[in-house]
Amino acid sequence: MILPANEENILIASKIIKEGGIIAFPTETVYGLGANALNKDAVIKIFEVKRRPYFDPLIVHIDNISWLEKLTVNYKNKIVEKLIDVFWPGPLTIVFKKSEIVPYITTGGLETVAIRMPKNDIALKLIKYSGFPISAPSANKFGYISPTSAYMVYEQFKEEIDIILDGGKTEIGIESTILYVENENIYVLRLGAISIDEIESVIKKSVLISEKIKSPGQFKFHYAPYTKVVIFDNIDEVISCIKDYKSAVIITDKKESINLPNNVIYDYFSESGDLREIAKNLFEKLYYYDKMNVDIIFVKSVKEEGIGRAIMDRLRKASGRYALKL
Ligand code: TXA
Ligand code: MG
Repeated sequence: MILPANEENILIASKIIKEGGIIAFPTETVYGLGANALNKDAVIKIFEVKRRPYFDPLIVHIDNISWLEKLTVNYKNKIVEKLIDVFWPGPLTIVFKKSEIVPYITTGGLETVAIRMPKNDIALKLIKYSGFPISAPSANKFGYISPTSAYMVYEQFKEEIDIILDGGKTEIGIESTILYVENENIYVLRLGAISIDEIESVIKKSVLISEKIKSPGQFKFHYAPYTKVVIFDNIDEVISCIKDYKSAVIITDKKESINLPNNVIYDYFSESGDLREIAKNLFEKLYYYDKMNVDIIFVKSVKEEGIGRAIMDRLRKASGRYALKL
């Protein structure tokens, strides 16, 4: 059931969390599927409902820095403290060594735990009222597009989740950036809402993209619609092959006037091509056209700068099954 995220319903949802249930709620990035992160049986339900492999760990959401002492061991490090100071609450997830109270089911069997403090009042209240940190993956079936609205969650789970708190469309639209700090080195495990440039300008050193240290959840196919997605750079290449399809969608980064045959639907992510707006609309548009059952979705690539890197990461994974070339 979708419920407006008012005070009363946040309280009802927090009661479900306290009692070991799961609910869906908005964050500033995407909607999450939440349970008490410290309750093994509750966390197992997330994996079951989402059909997620158990080795793929969950992010633990907190409302208060004081949880770090309890959930982690030796979290104090100058770089980490700086990152927290600048980016929390916000879409930055940091991987720490876990303490004993964090169950292995939450961390996919790892000795580390990924933690973030969301910048969304509904999420923060939910954590506060339930009295526990909330482990929450994106509220989609494993491998499918992450939801940016309550309706996208509902369509995927129907009555499998008792309560979906509706906080409207999420502000950012793609997931948090995940970092791992080891002594003086900072590795990015997942590109996301906070760009590497932003992080580097705060910590005044380079962030490493490591092949060695990886997030177990970084699969080649992910965030993927059932419909074939193909990324293109040049519209002429698309136009030369588009007659081969009964129905096709072309989505560009910014509004353009293009002459297209009538088997083609044209759309754009942002009128001006603003990268933040593209991120915000990305999953929603892919979801919408996936539901429309067209033969193919062509998506224009974006500049790989700032949040554009995370957008291209998501697009490549959405098109993962297929060659990136036409
Ligand atoms: O924006 C977000 O991060 C959203 C919202 C709901 O907070 N959550 C999200 O969760 O994207 P999920 O489960 O879809 O992705 C979590 C990623 C996975 O790739 C997982 O492998 C990684 O975080 N992860 C979790 N714990 C980890 C750990 N201890 N070490 C390395 N990677 C970890
Ligand atoms: Mg996810």
